[in-house]
Amino acid sequence: MEYKTISGIKLPAIGIGTWNMGRARLGHEKPDCSNDEKFVAAIKEAIKLGMWHIDTAEMYSSGHAEQIVAKAIKGIPREQVFITTKVLPSNLKREYLLAAARSSMQRLQVSLVDLFLIHWVNSNGQIQEAMEAMDELVESGKVKHIGVSNFSTAQLKLAQSYAENKIVTNQVEYNLMERGCEKELLPYCQDNDIILTAYSPLAQGNSRLLKNKVLAAVAAKHRKTTAQVALNWLVSQKNVIAIPKASSVEHVMENAGAAGWSLDAEDMELLEKEF
Ligand SMILES: NC(=O)c1ccc[n+]([C@@H]2O[C@H](COP(=O)([O-])OP(=O)(O)OC[C@H]3O[C@@H](n4cnc5c(N)ncnc54)[C@H](OP(=O)(O)O)[C@@H]3O)[C@@H](O)[C@H]2O)c1
Repeated sequence: MEYKTISGIKLPAIGIGTWNMGRARLGHEKPDCSNDEKFVAAIKEAIKLGMWHIDTAEMYSSGHAEQIVAKAIKGIPREQVFITTKVLPSNLKREYLLAAARSSMQRLQVSLVDLFLIHWVNSNGQIQEAMEAMDELVESGKVKHIGVSNFSTAQLKLAQSYAENKIVTNQVEYNLMERGCEKELLPYCQDNDIILTAYSPLAQGNSRLLKNKVLAAVAAKHRKTTAQVALNWLVSQKNVIAIPKASSVEHVMENAGAAGWSLDAEDMELLEKEF
């Protein structure tokens, strides 16, 4: 695995996401434990292959994804994994946010969250209160780093103006087909030593990406898969790390092979033209 140090934090270029792990097929974020062992095995494999950044949230499967992560990291020295979790926008009032962090820690069975994010902004103007509560979590030793998700550059700057601790990441959607962050947010993160964490880096497995002919040609040239090229393209950019969700050991192994090699200028040009 390839590692990046941004904002003083060393992270694998590719980690693992957990949205939809332990979620019933029908029903909004309704938990379903029937495939837990498969997800636990996938996360364990990711850790084994050096992809020890695990992304989860209180929202995912109504907390059950965090319980799956707890099972996967059981017995592994705490410092050998880096856990990111997120608080829902409905919990941004101080006491709700502190309670949400406590609940996440209980489900994760950890005494420290490595990175705690506001999942997305709410419309109640509670960002100052939320950022002050995030600072409290750092001061009390419950959270190591703070961050945000789905924030615009202006929202990121505003949030930072309320926080003593540095916002180390903005986690946003970024893949070859969704390039919205490139205009303003990515350059801002690159200039300010902030991690841009790319979510949905495989466009949620969309076949318009993974079966794209140009991507397939680039993949064939490097004897890689389209998913590996799509991830490599992302993490080849300064300050970008990715958190593909993979629920099988096979997909995890494939994603691990996305880092540690380089696309050339010709590939980059072809991909630029196509997407
Ligand atoms: N902050 C936010 O608002 C936000 C929003 C969305 C996502 N996220 C985070 O980002 C993570 C990743 O995003 P995502 O889950 O939306 O989408 P994604 O990672 O782009 O795509 C996941 C899909 O790709 C498939 N896949 C994984 N590896 C593959 C491979 N090598 N070849 C082919 N298909 C592959 C997965 O299948 P299998 O499951 O069968 O392996 C799954 O169907 C989430 O799990 C979550 O942790 C955050």
